[in-house]
Amino acid sequence: MALICVFDAYGTLFDVDAAARESAVPRDLWPRLAAQWRRKQLEYTWLRTVAGAHVDFWHVTQDALDWALELLALDDPALRAELLALYRRLAPYPEVPAVLAQLRARGLTLAILSNGARGMLADAVASAGFDGVFDAVLSVDAVGAYKPAPAVYDLVGAEFGCAPRDVLFISANGWDICSGAAYGFRTLWLNRSGAPGDRLHGAPEAEARDMTALLPLIERL
Ligand code: LAC
Repeated sequence: MALICVFDAYGTLFDVDAAARESAVPRDLWPRLAAQWRRKQLEYTWLRTVAGAHVDFWHVTQDALDWALELLALDDPALRAELLALYRRLAPYPEVPAVLAQLRARGLTLAILSNGARGMLADAVASAGFDGVFDAVLSVDAVGAYKPAPAVYDLVGAEFGCAPRDVLFISANGWDICSGAAYGFRTLWLNRSGAPGDRLHGAPEAEARDMTALLPLIERL
């Protein structure tokens, strides 16, 4: 059985820095806004899952943005609205469209497994021109908990009737990859920023700086 390729969305397919970069945020502040927004967004997913206080990722994304805007003294309703609108149509990373097209041409099964709320994912997929590319777009909305809760990774087996070893999970988030590896997925960590490896309960099987490494890897596995 050919491996099923399952992609994380934000930071892996879609450029999470693009909203702040393309917005009217002052040029010296956008990188800090992007980093703080993302860091707080992820923290809120973990904290809400541990606390059993789930709200969807669009809610979490807005809460995290409000925190980051206040931190940087940027609170302004028009700017907030612009940033959120841009987040609904984040650009894919430059190499992603061609790699996905090559994988499709080989007849591989492709899916997204993301914290994103269903509506956010539908918008991101459509604006990137990825309609029809994925066999399934799996959202944590179905389980009411965030990664790395194993119930989220279970969504893949439930969708495709496959074992974890039949899945190649691709994520740019080190903690997501370690957790997916511990769950039993084959894993490719897209270490886009050259970060140190996370010290967690699993380790990536393969590592690359971007997705162009994916096809050669699949041929080796
Ligand atoms: C996602 C986050 C983790 O798409 O980036 O699930």
